Amino acid sequence: MGGSMGPSLLSTQAVALTDADLADMIRDGRPDKGMPALDYQPGQIVALVNFIRRLQRDQGTTDAGLPQEGTAVAPSAIDRGQALFTGAARCAECHSVNEEGGLTAPDLTHIADRMTPEQLLDAIQKPSQSIADGYAASEIVMRDGTTIRGWSRYETAATLQLYDPQEQLWTTYFQKDLVQRRRLSESLMPNGLLDSLTDVERNNLLAFLASLKAEAN
Ligand code: HEC
Repeated sequence: MGGSMGPSLLSTQAVALTDADLADMIRDGRPDKGMPALDYQPGQIVALVNFIRRLQRDQGTTDAGLPQEGTAVAPSAIDRGQALFTGAARCAECHSVNEEGGLTAPDLTHIADRMTPEQLLDAIQKPSQSIADGYAASEIVMRDGTTIRGWSRYETAATLQLYDPQEQLWTTYFQKDLVQRRRLSESLMPNGLLDSLTDVERNNLLAFLASLKAEAN
């Protein structure tokens, strides 16, 4: 597999293709790019897809398909990941990137400077495993029985400020109105956010997050 076929199949665009797209590309060729349609049998196509995946992995995409640090990722994967971030994956309901999105959770504009793709995946799949500074959740119970979960800041002897992510509001409570207050060990970030995504979508979302570096913005 030398010649003109190699480079385009190892390009970052090809890394972002699904196996099915890659198989189509091998079967139909890319006449516009000078890659002819060759007469492969289906079994040969599968073998070629696996072979190309192995080459792509050796070139810097891990087994799980996570982008490795310092590896260029196809812009199309990043763009699709961004669309998921603001859409189906719901991240932007709470998180902002470049001043767009929710304000209830840590800003993720430069998150890739602080977290590797593996740490990002952990943060999404196991939100409660490590909780970002200042976002530890508390639960308070008022005299009338109302229970509010949020994170607290600016506490004085007389008052407590709590952010309620449901209402998206900071509210100041008088300590004397609270009958109970406890720190929660779980995160206010929901579990299972990736459950409705396909593997490819999950990888695209991670590609987007991994691209959020100071130098790239
Ligand atoms: C309902 C609100 C909410 C949604 C939706 C949400 N998050 Fe979060 N996220 C939080 C909160 C609150 C924290 C801080 C507490 C913690 O670290 O678990 C957090 C923390 C994180 C962190 C760690 C940040 C740091 O500075 O350590 C990452 C990364 C993250 N979220 C990514 C995501 C992604 C990606 C999505 C979409 C799949 C998402 N979040 C959806 C609320 C949310």
